[in-house]
Amino acid sequence: MSPPTFPELPAGFRFGAATAAYRTFAGATGDTACDHYHRYGEDIALLRGLGVDGYRFSIAWPRLLPGGTGAVNSKGLEFYDRLIDDLLAVGVAPAVTLHHGDLPQALEDRGGWRVRETAEAFAQYAALAAERYGDRVERWITVNEPYCSAFAGYADGRHAPGAEEGRGALAAAHHLLVAHGLAVRELRAAGAQEVGISLNLDRIHLASALPEDRAALRRAKVLHNEIWTEPLLAGRYPAHEAETWAGLADGPWRLPGDLELIGVPLDFLGVNFYRPVTFAAAPHREADPEVRTAVDIGVTELDRYRARHTTMGWPVVPDALTELLRELHAGYSRLPPVWITGNGSAEDDTVGLDGRVHDTARINYLADHLAAVADAISAGVDVRGYYVWSLLDNFEWARGHGQRFGLVHVDHDTLTRTPKDSYHWYRGLITTHRAQPEERG
Ligand code: NOJ
Repeated sequence: MSPPTFPELPAGFRFGAATAAYRTFAGATGDTACDHYHRYGEDIALLRGLGVDGYRFSIAWPRLLPGGTGAVNSKGLEFYDRLIDDLLAVGVAPAVTLHHGDLPQALEDRGGWRVRETAEAFAQYAALAAERYGDRVERWITVNEPYCSAFAGYADGRHAPGAEEGRGALAAAHHLLVAHGLAVRELRAAGAQEVGISLNLDRIHLASALPEDRAALRRAKVLHNEIWTEPLLAGRYPAHEAETWAGLADGPWRLPGDLELIGVPLDFLGVNFYRPVTFAAAPHREADPEVRTAVDIGVTELDRYRARHTTMGWPVVPDALTELLRELHAGYSRLPPVWITGNGSAEDDTVGLDGRVHDTARINYLADHLAAVADAISAGVDVRGYYVWSLLDNFEWARGHGQRFGLVHVDHDTLTRTPKDSYHWYRGLITTHRAQPEERG
């Protein structure tokens, strides 16, 4: 099969690749993960070979501040100095995520994201990182996917810390937003260049025209998207949240001044997108054993797509990304420039006898999603760049090493890196794009 044609993207559009630091999950260990800590030199050579403009990685908060606050681990500080300097030396711009799921255990022991103290500790950590690296980092992402930290962490327990507290996760959600606002303040005070946040927003489809499904869709939009986008981009809480949270909307964790803090204008919005979802009213659950209740708000997530599914079980529907971006553009007059900060597919990759990984499905996924981004740009959405998830086969949360998202295959026993066909395809795309005449777009 011949590879897909390269999507037409405007001149100046920038390409990157992303990873994140070690993340823990119940009952398993990611102690070594990809061992980027020791192999970062090899990984920088891979980035250089790829020709990306930027590399998105996360700082492990526990690596800098093992106790969450207080004593600094100088070895950790120095590691990121080396990483940043070596990236700059080969012309790759660093984009740093401050919180990508890993919270110092000492803070979790004191309440984790349930308590405001964690947001205040995060501000101190942000100040430390900004002070140390601010002169060299092009783009800062305060928090990655707060939905996952709040709801997968504290509501349905899929991710660390594995708490199943249902709507108690609302306090966590709010404190993650406060943490973001406080970090923006610290980053800007230290002269940071561009500051934003990465949200995993969902393009949500309606299961049916039944009134109860329409109501479920509205609640799902609050849960997945508007709880973040309304305070961040419109300076208000979601319109339907009283109905969604059944009276908990005015939780005592919300303090006067928080909306102003959270809603401070951003330099960019990071959007992570992998698949669309369909929501229905909870009674559908009985009819379909495959679905799971997102959180205790009477909605059920359905998979109703005839599309190909990745090994994560996620449907591949690139148009949904265009629709999501168009919705954001239409819905928020204050929408800043958008960066796609995570997009990619998990596939069943093996190194063949020829020593290569023929991941055509991933190439098609990336080509189609980049084409979807190009469509959104044509429709007027200001999307500036794209970080493919992921540079390496990563340690995938609760799925451990069972899912492979990388452009580069990692043998998790030997840690050997093997660039996949998608790596070579992405390099070709970047090279071809750079060679285009400037007037394009
Ligand atoms: C986005 C998350 O930021 C990342 O940590 C995760 O590995 C990918 N989604 C795939 O699930």
